[in-house]
Amino acid sequence: MKKILITRRLLRSSEEKASKIFDAKFNTNDELYSQEKLIKLSAGCDGILTALTDKLDAETINKLPSSIKILSNFAVGFGNIDLEAAKKRNIIVTNTPEVLTDATAEIGILLILGACRRAPEGIEAAKGSNWKWSADYLIGKQLTGTRLGILGMGRIGRKIASIAKSLGMIIHYHNRSKLSDDKEDGAIYHKDLKSFLGVSDVLSVCCPATKETVDLINKETLEYLPQGAVVTNVARGDIVNDDALIDALNRRKVYAVGLDVYKGEPNLNPGYLKHKSAFILPHLGSASKHTRTAMADLAIDNMNEFFKSGSCKNKVN
Ligand code: GLV
Repeated sequence: MKKILITRRLLRSSEEKASKIFDAKFNTNDELYSQEKLIKLSAGCDGILTALTDKLDAETINKLPSSIKILSNFAVGFGNIDLEAAKKRNIIVTNTPEVLTDATAEIGILLILGACRRAPEGIEAAKGSNWKWSADYLIGKQLTGTRLGILGMGRIGRKIASIAKSLGMIIHYHNRSKLSDDKEDGAIYHKDLKSFLGVSDVLSVCCPATKETVDLINKETLEYLPQGAVVTNVARGDIVNDDALIDALNRRKVYAVGLDVYKGEPNLNPGYLKHKSAFILPHLGSASKHTRTAMADLAIDNMNEFFKSGSCKNKVN
Protein backbone atom coordinates (compact mmCIF):
# COMPACT_ATOMS: atom_id res chain seq x y z
CA MET A 1 0.00 0.00 0.00
CA LYS A 2 1.29 3.47 -0.89
CA LYS A 3 1.71 5.81 2.03
CA ILE A 4 0.10 9.25 1.72
CA LEU A 5 -0.33 12.36 3.81
CA ILE A 6 -3.71 14.12 3.64
CA THR A 7 -3.13 17.65 4.86
CA ARG A 8 -6.75 18.63 5.69
CA ARG A 9 -9.72 16.73 7.05
CA LEU A 10 -12.01 15.40 4.32
CA LEU A 11 -15.68 14.41 4.54
CA ARG A 12 -15.96 11.04 6.31
CA SER A 13 -16.86 8.98 3.25
CA SER A 14 -13.80 10.34 1.42
CA GLU A 15 -11.49 9.48 4.33
CA GLU A 16 -12.97 5.98 4.35
CA LYS A 17 -12.29 5.67 0.64
CA ALA A 18 -8.70 6.87 1.11
CA SER A 19 -8.05 4.41 3.92
CA LYS A 20 -9.20 1.49 1.76
CA ILE A 21 -6.72 2.35 -0.99
CA PHE A 22 -3.77 3.86 0.87
CA ASP A 23 -1.90 3.80 4.12
CA ALA A 24 -3.14 7.32 4.84
CA LYS A 25 -2.09 9.80 7.52
CA PHE A 26 -5.12 11.96 8.37
CA ASN A 27 -5.37 15.37 9.99
CA THR A 28 -8.02 14.58 12.61
CA ASN A 29 -8.05 18.10 14.13
CA ASP A 30 -8.04 19.77 10.72
CA GLU A 31 -5.10 21.85 11.86
CA LEU A 32 -3.52 24.23 9.33
CA TYR A 33 -0.02 22.77 9.02
CA SER A 34 2.93 25.12 8.88
CA GLN A 35 5.33 24.45 6.01
CA GLU A 36 7.81 22.89 8.50
CA LYS A 37 5.15 20.58 9.90
CA LEU A 38 3.96 19.51 6.47
CA ILE A 39 7.54 18.64 5.48
CA LYS A 40 8.04 16.68 8.71
CA LEU A 41 4.76 14.77 8.40
CA SER A 42 5.48 13.80 4.80
CA ALA A 43 8.52 11.74 5.85
CA GLY A 44 8.18 8.22 4.47
CA CYS A 45 5.18 9.15 2.28
CA ASP A 46 4.83 8.57 -1.47
CA GLY A 47 2.40 11.40 -2.08
CA ILE A 48 0.52 14.27 -0.47
CA LEU A 49 -3.13 15.16 -0.90
CA THR A 50 -2.90 18.93 -0.54
CA ALA A 51 -5.52 21.65 -0.15
CA LEU A 52 -5.58 25.24 -1.40
CA THR A 53 -4.62 26.35 2.12
CA ASP A 54 -1.20 24.63 1.80
CA LYS A 55 1.45 26.93 0.38
CA LEU A 56 3.82 24.69 -1.55
CA ASP A 57 6.35 27.23 -2.72
CA ALA A 58 9.74 26.28 -4.15
CA GLU A 59 11.42 26.36 -0.75
CA THR A 60 8.90 23.94 0.76
CA ILE A 61 8.92 21.64 -2.28
CA ASN A 62 12.71 21.49 -2.24
CA LYS A 63 12.63 20.29 1.35
CA LEU A 64 10.10 17.49 0.77
CA PRO A 65 11.47 13.96 1.14
CA SER A 66 12.60 12.38 -2.14
CA SER A 67 9.95 9.65 -1.69
CA ILE A 68 7.20 12.18 -2.58
CA LYS A 69 6.16 11.68 -6.20
CA ILE A 70 2.76 13.37 -6.40
CA LEU A 71 0.97 16.40 -4.98
CA SER A 72 -2.71 15.78 -5.56
CA ASN A 73 -4.41 19.14 -5.00
CA PHE A 74 -7.95 19.00 -3.64
CA ALA A 75 -9.04 21.96 -5.83
CA VAL A 76 -9.33 22.94 -9.46
CA GLY A 77 -6.97 25.89 -8.85
CA PHE A 78 -3.32 25.17 -8.16
CA GLY A 79 -1.86 28.63 -7.58
CA ASN A 80 -0.80 27.39 -4.12
CA ILE A 81 1.79 25.07 -5.69
CA ASP A 82 4.96 26.07 -7.54
CA LEU A 83 4.55 23.83 -10.57
CA GLU A 84 8.06 24.42 -11.90
CA ALA A 85 9.70 23.60 -8.58
CA ALA A 86 7.68 20.39 -8.42
CA LYS A 87 8.61 19.48 -11.97
CA LYS A 88 12.31 20.00 -11.25
CA ARG A 89 11.99 17.45 -8.47
CA ASN A 90 10.03 15.03 -10.65
CA ILE A 91 6.88 15.49 -8.60
CA ILE A 92 3.64 15.52 -10.56
CA VAL A 93 0.85 17.90 -9.57
CA THR A 94 -2.81 17.09 -10.24
CA ASN A 95 -6.07 18.98 -9.72
CA THR A 96 -9.83 18.29 -9.62
CA PRO A 97 -11.45 19.91 -12.67
CA GLU A 98 -15.08 19.59 -13.80
CA VAL A 99 -16.60 18.19 -10.61
CA LEU A 100 -16.88 21.62 -9.00
CA THR A 101 -18.05 23.61 -12.01
CA ASP A 102 -21.75 23.78 -11.12
CA ALA A 103 -21.29 24.49 -7.40
CA THR A 104 -18.77 27.26 -8.08
CA ALA A 105 -20.91 28.80 -10.80
CA GLU A 106 -23.83 28.90 -8.35
CA ILE A 107 -21.70 30.97 -5.97
CA GLY A 108 -20.58 33.11 -8.92
CA ILE A 109 -24.24 33.92 -9.62
CA LEU A 110 -24.95 34.50 -5.93
CA LEU A 111 -22.13 37.07 -5.86
CA ILE A 112 -23.62 38.88 -8.85
CA LEU A 113 -27.13 38.87 -7.39
CA GLY A 114 -26.00 39.75 -3.86
CA ALA A 115 -23.86 42.67 -5.01
CA CYS A 116 -26.33 44.03 -7.58
CA ARG A 117 -29.43 43.72 -5.39
CA ARG A 118 -27.81 45.09 -2.21
CA ALA A 119 -28.04 41.90 -0.17
CA PRO A 120 -25.60 42.99 2.60
CA GLU A 121 -27.62 46.14 3.36
CA GLY A 122 -30.87 44.20 3.12
CA ILE A 123 -29.71 41.49 5.53
CA GLU A 124 -28.51 44.04 8.04
CA ALA A 125 -31.76 46.02 7.91
CA ALA A 126 -33.93 42.89 8.13
CA LYS A 127 -32.00 41.62 11.17
CA GLY A 128 -32.23 45.01 12.87
CA SER A 129 -35.99 45.39 12.16
CA ASN A 130 -35.18 48.98 11.22
CA TRP A 131 -36.78 49.12 7.81
CA LYS A 132 -40.04 49.83 6.17
CA TRP A 133 -41.11 49.00 2.64
CA SER A 134 -41.23 52.01 0.38
CA ALA A 135 -41.14 52.55 -3.36
CA ASP A 136 -37.54 53.73 -3.34
CA TYR A 137 -36.17 51.53 -0.55
CA LEU A 138 -32.86 49.72 -1.29
CA ILE A 139 -33.14 50.13 -5.02
CA GLY A 140 -30.52 47.95 -6.67
CA LYS A 141 -29.35 47.08 -10.15
CA GLN A 142 -31.56 44.66 -12.06
CA LEU A 143 -29.74 42.06 -14.14
CA THR A 144 -32.17 41.99 -17.08
CA GLY A 145 -30.47 43.60 -20.07
CA THR A 146 -27.26 44.26 -18.12
CA ARG A 147 -23.92 43.37 -19.72
CA LEU A 148 -21.97 40.68 -17.89
CA GLY A 149 -18.23 40.51 -18.60
CA ILE A 150 -16.71 37.11 -17.91
CA LEU A 151 -12.97 37.19 -17.40
CA GLY A 152 -11.87 33.63 -18.17
CA MET A 153 -14.37 31.58 -20.17
CA GLY A 154 -13.41 28.13 -18.90
CA ARG A 155 -15.91 25.64 -17.53
CA ILE A 156 -16.98 27.83 -14.60
CA GLY A 157 -17.15 30.99 -16.70
CA ARG A 158 -19.31 29.24 -19.29
CA LYS A 159 -21.67 27.86 -16.66
CA ILE A 160 -22.06 31.33 -15.14
CA ALA A 161 -22.69 32.67 -18.65
CA SER A 162 -25.47 30.16 -19.30
CA ILE A 163 -27.27 30.91 -16.00
CA ALA A 164 -26.80 34.67 -16.45
CA LYS A 165 -28.22 34.44 -19.97
CA SER A 166 -31.38 32.90 -18.57
CA LEU A 167 -31.62 35.95 -16.29
CA GLY A 168 -31.58 38.19 -19.35
CA MET A 169 -27.94 39.32 -19.14
CA ILE A 170 -25.90 40.00 -22.26
CA ILE A 171 -22.64 38.07 -22.15
CA HIS A 172 -19.22 39.41 -23.13
CA TYR A 173 -15.95 37.60 -22.42
CA HIS A 174 -12.19 37.91 -22.45
CA ASN A 175 -10.07 34.82 -22.73
CA ARG A 176 -6.64 33.83 -24.04
CA SER A 177 -8.40 32.64 -27.19
CA LYS A 178 -11.80 32.88 -28.80
CA LEU A 179 -14.01 29.87 -28.17
CA SER A 180 -15.77 27.78 -30.81
CA ASP A 181 -19.29 29.00 -31.70
CA ASP A 182 -20.68 26.08 -29.84
CA LYS A 183 -18.90 26.92 -26.56
CA GLU A 184 -19.40 30.65 -27.03
CA ASP A 185 -23.17 30.19 -27.24
CA GLY A 186 -23.78 33.78 -28.37
CA ALA A 187 -21.30 35.45 -25.99
CA ILE A 188 -19.27 38.31 -27.48
CA TYR A 189 -15.50 37.86 -27.51
CA HIS A 190 -13.04 40.68 -26.75
CA LYS A 191 -9.40 39.99 -27.48
CA ASP A 192 -8.52 43.29 -25.90
CA LEU A 193 -8.87 43.65 -22.12
CA LYS A 194 -9.68 47.36 -22.33
CA SER A 195 -12.52 46.86 -24.80
CA PHE A 196 -13.82 43.96 -22.67
CA LEU A 197 -13.81 45.91 -19.40
CA GLY A 198 -15.41 48.87 -21.17
CA VAL A 199 -18.63 46.86 -21.66
CA SER A 200 -18.61 45.02 -18.31
CA ASP A 201 -21.46 46.55 -16.31
CA VAL A 202 -20.95 43.53 -14.09
CA LEU A 203 -17.56 41.81 -14.08
CA SER A 204 -17.22 38.17 -13.08
CA VAL A 205 -13.62 37.07 -12.50
CA CYS A 206 -13.42 33.37 -13.35
CA CYS A 207 -9.85 32.85 -14.58
CA PRO A 208 -7.06 30.97 -12.79
CA ALA A 209 -4.38 32.91 -10.90
CA THR A 210 -1.25 32.74 -13.03
CA LYS A 211 1.75 35.01 -13.60
CA GLU A 212 -0.31 36.71 -16.34
CA THR A 213 -3.45 37.28 -14.26
CA VAL A 214 -2.10 38.28 -10.84
CA ASP A 215 -3.28 41.85 -10.14
CA LEU A 216 -4.91 42.04 -13.56
CA ILE A 217 -7.73 44.01 -11.96
CA ASN A 218 -5.78 47.00 -10.71
CA LYS A 219 -5.83 50.81 -10.48
CA GLU A 220 -5.41 51.23 -14.22
CA THR A 221 -7.72 48.48 -15.50
CA LEU A 222 -10.54 49.36 -13.05
CA GLU A 223 -10.76 52.71 -14.83
CA TYR A 224 -11.75 50.91 -18.07
CA LEU A 225 -15.00 49.73 -16.44
CA PRO A 226 -18.20 51.72 -16.98
CA GLN A 227 -18.98 54.17 -14.17
CA GLY A 228 -20.83 52.32 -11.39
CA ALA A 229 -19.81 48.81 -12.49
CA VAL A 230 -20.12 45.82 -10.18
CA VAL A 231 -17.03 43.64 -9.63
CA THR A 232 -17.34 40.00 -8.56
CA ASN A 233 -14.65 37.36 -8.04
CA VAL A 234 -15.27 33.64 -7.66
CA ALA A 235 -11.77 32.59 -8.80
CA ARG A 236 -8.75 33.72 -6.77
CA GLY A 237 -8.03 36.81 -4.68
CA ASP A 238 -4.61 37.22 -6.28
CA ILE A 239 -6.20 38.44 -9.52
CA VAL A 240 -7.54 41.59 -7.87
CA ASN A 241 -5.55 44.42 -6.33
CA ASP A 242 -7.56 45.02 -3.16
CA ASP A 243 -6.38 48.55 -2.44
CA ALA A 244 -7.31 49.65 -5.96
CA LEU A 245 -10.74 47.99 -5.76
CA ILE A 246 -11.49 49.48 -2.33
CA ASP A 247 -10.44 52.89 -3.61
CA ALA A 248 -12.75 52.45 -6.62
CA LEU A 249 -15.61 51.56 -4.22
CA ASN A 250 -14.85 54.65 -2.12
CA ARG A 251 -14.99 56.84 -5.21
CA ARG A 252 -18.22 55.15 -6.41
CA LYS A 253 -16.45 54.22 -9.63
CA VAL A 254 -17.47 50.74 -8.55
CA TYR A 255 -21.04 50.45 -7.25
CA ALA A 256 -20.67 47.17 -5.35
CA VAL A 257 -18.46 44.11 -5.08
CA GLY A 258 -19.27 40.42 -4.63
CA LEU A 259 -16.29 38.42 -3.42
CA ASP A 260 -15.74 34.81 -2.40
CA VAL A 261 -11.94 34.76 -2.58
CA TYR A 262 -9.21 37.00 -1.19
CA LYS A 263 -5.48 37.60 -1.17
CA GLY A 264 -4.00 36.15 2.01
CA GLU A 265 -7.15 34.22 3.02
CA PRO A 266 -8.62 34.06 5.61
CA ASN A 267 -7.49 37.60 6.39
CA LEU A 268 -9.29 39.82 3.98
CA ASN A 269 -8.39 43.46 3.48
CA PRO A 270 -10.25 45.35 6.25
CA GLY A 271 -11.22 48.01 3.69
CA TYR A 272 -13.96 45.66 2.45
CA LEU A 273 -15.50 45.32 5.91
CA LYS A 274 -16.35 49.00 6.09
CA HIS A 275 -18.34 48.92 2.87
CA LYS A 276 -22.05 48.28 3.03
CA SER A 277 -21.93 47.51 -0.69
CA ALA A 278 -19.42 44.69 -0.28
CA PHE A 279 -21.14 41.30 -0.46
CA ILE A 280 -18.50 38.99 0.95
CA LEU A 281 -18.42 35.23 1.43
CA PRO A 282 -15.72 32.98 2.95
CA HIS A 283 -14.51 30.95 -0.08
CA LEU A 284 -17.65 28.83 -0.48
CA GLY A 285 -17.36 28.15 -4.23
CA SER A 286 -17.28 24.36 -4.06
CA ALA A 287 -18.90 24.01 -0.63
CA SER A 288 -21.66 21.46 -1.15
CA LYS A 289 -21.56 17.87 0.11
CA HIS A 290 -21.97 16.49 -3.38
CA THR A 291 -19.12 18.58 -4.79
CA ARG A 292 -16.67 18.27 -1.90
CA THR A 293 -17.15 14.49 -2.01
CA ALA A 294 -16.59 14.41 -5.76
CA MET A 295 -13.47 16.59 -5.41
CA ALA A 296 -11.92 14.46 -2.68
CA ASP A 297 -12.76 11.27 -4.54
CA LEU A 298 -11.14 12.65 -7.67
CA ALA A 299 -8.03 13.76 -5.73
CA ILE A 300 -7.78 10.20 -4.35
CA ASP A 301 -8.40 8.66 -7.79
CA ASN A 302 -5.73 10.93 -9.30
CA MET A 303 -3.18 9.52 -6.85
CA ASN A 304 -4.30 5.98 -7.45
CA GLU A 305 -4.12 6.40 -11.21
CA PHE A 306 -0.63 7.84 -10.94
CA PHE A 307 0.69 5.12 -8.64
CA LYS A 308 -0.76 2.43 -10.93
CA SER A 309 0.18 3.86 -14.33
CA GLY A 310 2.93 6.43 -13.71
CA SER A 311 0.72 9.17 -15.16
CA CYS A 312 -2.58 10.94 -14.57
CA LYS A 313 -5.05 12.65 -16.88
CA ASN A 314 -5.44 15.53 -14.44
CA LYS A 315 -1.70 16.29 -14.32
CA VAL A 316 -1.09 20.04 -14.55
CA ASN A 317 2.72 20.32 -14.62
C1 GLV B 1 -11.54 26.20 -5.15
O1 GLV B 1 -11.31 27.34 -4.94
C2 GLV B 1 -10.82 25.38 -6.07
O2 GLV B 1 -9.88 25.87 -6.74
O3 GLV B 1 -11.13 24.21 -6.15
